[in-house]
Amino acid sequence: MNVANTPDIFYPSQEVIDQANVSDYEAMYKYSVEDREGFWAEQAETLSWFKKWDTVLDESNAPFYKWFDGGQINIVHNAIDRHLENANRNKMAIIWEGENGQKRNFSYNGLNREVCQFANVLKSMGVEKGDVVTIYMPQIPELVFAMLACAKIGAVHSVVYGGFSTEALASRIDAAHSRVLITADGGWRRGKQIDLKSIADDAMKRSPSIEVCICVKNNELDVEMEPSRDFWLHDLKALPIAGSTCETEPTEAEDPLFILYTSGTTGQPKGMVHTHGGYAVYTSTTHRMAFDIKPQDRWWCAADPGWITGHSYIVYGPLINGATIMLYEGAPNYPYPNRWWQIIENYGINILYTSPTAIRGLMRFGERWPKKHDLSSLRLLGSVGEPINPEAWKWYHSVIGNGKCPIIDTWWQTETGGFMICPLPVTPLKPGSATKPFFGNEITIVNDDGVEVAANEEGKLMINNPWPGMARTVYKDAQRYKDLYWAEVDGKWRYLAGDSAKKDDDGYIWVIGRIDEVLKVSGYRLGTSEVESALVSHPSVTEAAAVGLPHELKGNAIHTYVILKDGVVADNKLALELKAHVGAEMGKIAMPEAVEFVDSLPKTRSGKIMRRVLKARALGQDEGDLSTLEE
Ligand code: PRX
Repeated sequence: MNVANTPDIFYPSQEVIDQANVSDYEAMYKYSVEDREGFWAEQAETLSWFKKWDTVLDESNAPFYKWFDGGQINIVHNAIDRHLENANRNKMAIIWEGENGQKRNFSYNGLNREVCQFANVLKSMGVEKGDVVTIYMPQIPELVFAMLACAKIGAVHSVVYGGFSTEALASRIDAAHSRVLITADGGWRRGKQIDLKSIADDAMKRSPSIEVCICVKNNELDVEMEPSRDFWLHDLKALPIAGSTCETEPTEAEDPLFILYTSGTTGQPKGMVHTHGGYAVYTSTTHRMAFDIKPQDRWWCAADPGWITGHSYIVYGPLINGATIMLYEGAPNYPYPNRWWQIIENYGINILYTSPTAIRGLMRFGERWPKKHDLSSLRLLGSVGEPINPEAWKWYHSVIGNGKCPIIDTWWQTETGGFMICPLPVTPLKPGSATKPFFGNEITIVNDDGVEVAANEEGKLMINNPWPGMARTVYKDAQRYKDLYWAEVDGKWRYLAGDSAKKDDDGYIWVIGRIDEVLKVSGYRLGTSEVESALVSHPSVTEAAAVGLPHELKGNAIHTYVILKDGVVADNKLALELKAHVGAEMGKIAMPEAVEFVDSLPKTRSGKIMRRVLKARALGQDEGDLSTLEE
């Protein structure tokens, strides 16, 4: 189906229009691109600065842009401290529920206490401004406290998603030379305890830079604690040094706030670096405008804080906006497929922001599960991570949103820090399109020469301007950042996102998918090269190729082709072993759907694996131009 021809357009109700934070997209958009710096300066004024900036945008070393340079700020001063001086002080900041029904709530005041104590613990362990602290945790409040504690003292956090495994954790610790690791004994998933500490132990064996490991007690697993290295957080919090007040350290607007690793076309994941100033302005503005945030809102971004979605829209954007955030550790369908709908009813959630994969996963259990619950508190719904298929969109809209909640489909990336293409609640919606650029952004769809293609034609998604939330560099590899993302077209630096897209006759953007060798599996981003190197690290494997093939629930599933070492017998048992091996190295999300044993792989004469040929063969499609094929 050509989605661009989907005739359905969904218009906002009068109620949505009446309460919109921004009611005229076109007028605001025009202003924001004609006076980009003026627009962003106005947004920055809504935050608390220790010292105001000298320049809004410094383009002197493009594409290494600086935003609000000369300004001093700390994102935590905005996410917590300033709320303590007004009515938000006793407002709920975090509502947490664990899979087994445990409940913990924190007001802004309570959150401040936790973060101050954690910050004092970090200081007592010698953590200083600019140090990189690696965090590997389940979805518990301490993950949020740890991130905020680092930021508060000017340290840089590097969160590794708790679903990742040893290799991913070890390589990220190594890359950042972290001295301190924060982890937990374990997490919960589907009634089972997930043992994180032993994965952390294996990673620390591989990455000797860790001198201190702070461990949060979250379940009943017996874990090994190495006496001179490993400390329980609750023991450290009991020490006199861990007082419940701690000054927030002023940081330069351009000082790094965090590093977050993401998969790319080649090699190992790259550490995207985000800053205190521009990122605070961008995440809070996008969140407030696209999701019409109101003071009384209960906001639930059902992602993991360990991914960019969680960094920007569980932790920073919503807390800066003084919202109440919901955090749930557990599976969406445990013990029954109504778990999420029950949470929405129990807590009166107003906005749910999740992924197409999650929606498709819950949709397959049928309407009877959501229908058991009163979901009338919902005002808006959001989607992120991959294109949403119109069928899932319509189910989400009619069954979950009762036909009255606009769906805010947000297109963005780890690199962009926040929403780049998304509707406002007042925007007429077309299911499957993230609609129009967010304020300040000019987006064109171009061919290989950077020339804009005609309406409805597929091309590369290009962003023509800098924006405050943009990653500033790849950690310790500025050249890679420039080479990977930026191209000079018509004398101006442009950002190439690595996605293909179309713009229809109304200027609506339809993102199609990645053009590089990045896979989106259940909305998670993985590099084919990472899966391949995990396979090759198995003693039986000589060479491997990974491709993504369409999958009804996951969007894409990983199919792999493996050449075995001489004399190794190819059988089903080995295929299962290889799947498990990738799972153990990288994490369950990277486990291949299929392992096929082959004698050779299609390669170019220069030795590059032609993954598109493998994919076309698997799908029974035309293999395209084979002129560069080796044999
Ligand atoms: O291909 C796009 C897809 O996810 C990629 C970015 O992945 P990641 O850095 O993991 O960030 C995910 C959360 C922001 C993009 O290059 N993507 C993300 N959101 C959408 C999307 N594709 C289509 N529609 C979206 N709303």
